[in-house]
Amino acid sequence: MSRLLIERTEAFVRERLDAGDVGHDWQHVDRVRRTAVMLGAAEGADLIVVELAALLHDVADWKFHDGDEFAGSRAATHWLRSQLAAPELVTLVAQIIDEVSFKGAGVQTQPTTLEGQVVQDADRLDAIGAIGIARAFAYGGHKKRALYDPLIPPTPHDSFEAYRQGTGPTINHFHEKLLLLKDRMNTATARQIAASRHRFMEAFLQQFAREWNGEDYRPVCG
Ligand code: ADP
Ligand code: NI
Repeated sequence: MSRLLIERTEAFVRERLDAGDVGHDWQHVDRVRRTAVMLGAAEGADLIVVELAALLHDVADWKFHDGDEFAGSRAATHWLRSQLAAPELVTLVAQIIDEVSFKGAGVQTQPTTLEGQVVQDADRLDAIGAIGIARAFAYGGHKKRALYDPLIPPTPHDSFEAYRQGTGPTINHFHEKLLLLKDRMNTATARQIAASRHRFMEAFLQQFAREWNGEDYRPVCG
């Protein structure tokens, strides 16, 4: 029964996301699902709940629904009820989806269940490292943001509202979110993976600054 529900949910999500908004396409969801199941197995979580919540976690994102932060859990609830899923399962998955998102540097968002913590870790692992860098610039390009502007410093948003309204250059997003994530992983397994992805982003930012400032060019003296 639960395998069938997962397969149906996968088809439902695939169909909804295939059109592909930037950073939240089916490939993101599939990576998060695989990572979440791997983390969940290592941490002893309920893998059915983890896989369902991971599949549904971006089914309706507040960024693309006029800032409605509950659009995602509502859409997931509607879908799971239509599949006659057990009411406790529906409630659990909806709660995980409400708790998963990053809401600003100064906003506490630790999920209350192990399954939620695992899904949040998997989602955040996909926002850092090489893939995270690619997704950040894809999002910035979609929003027509500058790559970098030395005159606009990063903002440590202390409310969801302020984070939501940010329009800074994409490099700022690294300081406002991506570089903070390694210390906010919930599980030991995710912390380990995050460490190397974090180092890769730091190396990228150092090289970006070197190129920006022309420090990677050494004139040959005659
Ligand atoms: P998540 O799926 O981790 O909750 P979001 O939904 O916040 O992430 O964002 C989706 C992707 O877009 C992530 O890779 C995220 O880092 C990136 N992103 C979000 N906001 C910005 C921004 N202001 N500038 C650049 N990238 C962003
Ligand atoms: Ni996501």
